[in-house]
Amino acid sequence: MRVHFADRKGPSPQPSPGVPGEGEKARPAAIRDDFAGACYDSPPMIRPATIHDVPRIEEIINSHAGLGKMLFKSYAQLYEDLRDFGVYEENGEVIGCCAVTIIWADLAEVRSLAVDEIQIGRGLGRQLVQWAIDEARRLGIRRLMALTYEQTFFEKMGFSVVLKEALPLKVWSDCVRCPKRDECDEIAMVLTLHDVPVSDQPAAAPTPRGVSIPVLEFSED
Ligand SMILES: CC(C)(COP(=O)(O)OP(=O)(O)OC[C@H]1O[C@@H](n2cnc3c(N)ncnc32)[C@H](O)[C@@H]1OP(=O)(O)O)[C@@H](O)C(=O)NCCC(=O)NCCS
Repeated sequence: MRVHFADRKGPSPQPSPGVPGEGEKARPAAIRDDFAGACYDSPPMIRPATIHDVPRIEEIINSHAGLGKMLFKSYAQLYEDLRDFGVYEENGEVIGCCAVTIIWADLAEVRSLAVDEIQIGRGLGRQLVQWAIDEARRLGIRRLMALTYEQTFFEKMGFSVVLKEALPLKVWSDCVRCPKRDECDEIAMVLTLHDVPVSDQPAAAPTPRGVSIPVLEFSED
C-alpha cells in the first residue's frame, strides 16, 4: 500500500531507519533496477520510474515549478520522457526524482531534479545527482550538464558554471516550450567525468556565437 505523508493525520512522519537524525549524513539509498513493487517498510532506494510514479513526479516537480524554481512538466511530457527518470522511494512513497536526458554522444543533461519540499535538506538531492552521474557513466557519456538556479548545490556536486554558448545548439530545442524562452536566466553548469573515455563520435553542432538562447520562432497559433 502506498502511504503519502500528506494523507496522514497527526504529527509529521518519524524518521525511518534509513533517515539520518540531526547532525548525521543521509544514508545512501540502494540503487536498484529490478524494482518489482513497493512495500511499506522497504529501505530507501533510487530506481527507474514506472508509469505508476507519474502522478507523484508531476506533483513534486510542479510544486516547485509553481514557486518559479523549475519548469512545469505536463503529464504528456512525463510519459514521453519517463524512461529518463529515476525516483527516490522511501517507505513505499516517491519523495524525489531526477531525469538524465542524452543530448549527444558526449553530453547528457540532468533534468527535473526535485525533492519533496518536506524532505529537502536530507541529502536526497545529492543521491539523485549521484544516480544521474552513475547513469552517464553506464551510458559512456563523459559530460553532464544542468540548467539551474541552484548554482551552489550543483557546485557541491562538482559542476562548474560555463557560458551557455559553450553548449551545443541541441540543448536549446526544448526552449520553445518554455515560458522564459526569450529571457532565460538559468545558469549553465557542466561536470566532466574524467574516467569516461572521450567519444570518438563527431561533436554536436555548437551554439552559434552571439546568440545566447537560440530558439526557433514560436507562435501561439
Ligand atoms: C535543489 C534540491 C534538489 C536539493 O535537494 P536536497 O535534498 O535538499 O539537497 P541535499 O540535502 O542533498 O544537499 C546537498 C548539499 O547541497 C547543499 N544545498 C542544497 N540545496 C542548496 C541550496 N539551495 N543552496 C545552497 N546549498 C544547497 C546542502 O547544504 C548540502 O551541502 P553539504 O553536503 O555541504 O552538507 C532541492 O532543494 C529541490 O528539489 N529544489 C527545488 C527544485 C530545484 O530547484 N531543482 C533543481 C532544478 S535543476
